[in-house]
Amino acid sequence: MAIKDRVALVTGAGSGIGEVIAKTFAQDGATVVVNDVNAEQANRVAEEITKNGQRALAFACDVSNKAQVTEMFKTVKDTFGRIDILVNNAGIDKAKGIVGIAEEDWDRIINVNLKGQFLCCQAAAAMMKEQNYGRIINISSRAWLGGVGQTCYSASKGGVISLTRTLAQELAKNQITVNCIAPGIIETPLFTNLPEETKANLMKMQPTGTIGKPKDIAHGAEFYADDEAGYITGQVIYICGGKSIFSSLSV
Ligand SMILES: NC(=O)c1ccc[n+]([C@@H]2O[C@H](COP(=O)([O-])OP(=O)(O)OC[C@H]3O[C@@H](n4cnc5c(N)ncnc54)[C@H](O)[C@@H]3O)[C@@H](O)[C@H]2O)c1
Repeated sequence: MAIKDRVALVTGAGSGIGEVIAKTFAQDGATVVVNDVNAEQANRVAEEITKNGQRALAFACDVSNKAQVTEMFKTVKDTFGRIDILVNNAGIDKAKGIVGIAEEDWDRIINVNLKGQFLCCQAAAAMMKEQNYGRIINISSRAWLGGVGQTCYSASKGGVISLTRTLAQELAKNQITVNCIAPGIIETPLFTNLPEETKANLMKMQPTGTIGKPKDIAHGAEFYADDEAGYITGQVIYICGGKSIFSSLSV
């Protein structure tokens, strides 16, 4: 994969999918900025990468906070002089039926999952336009197609796809690609911490009958991040074991 010596920032990289994306990119020669709202986790991942002789810098901040995001991108510019790859991965979920959703839950999920991606795209685009080069990869979810109990989450992830398609058009002339991955069920704390009943219901609808791994998503992220992927923009790859194309499992 041609990402060697590129500077990449991965949000929410202190756990799950983001952690594996950060480690995969570092292993393949990129310098990785490991962001997470949880400083301990961000530091742990960055340390594990550097212990392997690869390059990483931890930066803890909340991606929904504009001042903190501005500071993070300033640090990246001051330290490395550029940013080549942004993976907007930080995300949260809270499954609830529509009547029981608290206003604060709606606000928090939209703020982290959608506004967070907007703020990071905005800061990265300013630097990438100066370089006339960039790869932005936004993590949406198969759930944007709809899912019972996922009102806030689905709406936030649908917004991510609209954001991606719009920015892809706006930034294409600057040789900046903006693409999306829509994962299905992936084995991370975000899924394993869901109520048992919700997990069982989700698995019933899984065509492969298997659960995906973070490395499945890292593989897609590397595909988009590659130097050679410059003609791919505004696209959504579903990495979901076929769930996005199934309406029924009975024959
Ligand atoms: N696991 C799945 O089944 C699944 C399916 C579809 C999409 N996704 C998406 O993949 C992405 C990664 O999820 P995951 O499954 O690895 O979850 P995870 O909970 O393991 O990791 C998410 C990370 O994001 C961090 N984070 C949360 N809020 C943050 C904020 N405001 N600022 C910075 N970091 C923050 C968390 O601390 C955590 O380390 C999310 O966007 C999620 O919506 C996951």
